Amino acid sequence: MKQVDRLPEKHIFICVNNREQGSCCLKVNGIDTFQKIKSYILSHGLAGRVWVTKTGCQGFCNPVGTTISVYPEKKIFTEVKPEEVDKILEEVLSK
Ligand code: FES
Repeated sequence: MKQVDRLPEKHIFICVNNREQGSCCLKVNGIDTFQKIKSYILSHGLAGRVWVTKTGCQGFCNPVGTTISVYPEKKIFTEVKPEEVDKILEEVLSK
């Protein structure tokens, strides 16, 4: 076993879960939201300091938008639409 001591300052988890019936983040543009967040992090030179990871269901499924959680802040955003990504990132990355 090897322990890593170089950790990111923040880790953003974006749900892209898919399910055939009922609400899920894949049906409400979860992939677009993930891509937009990834592009933002890369274009702002934050790769390595901020990690971005796709996840399965985070337990807040809805028919409106994607669920995103941010650590270490333990903030969870639900019903996120791709066009709202910049606003969320400006908020969580300013602290
Ligand atoms: S499918 Fe995304 S929170 Fe449940």
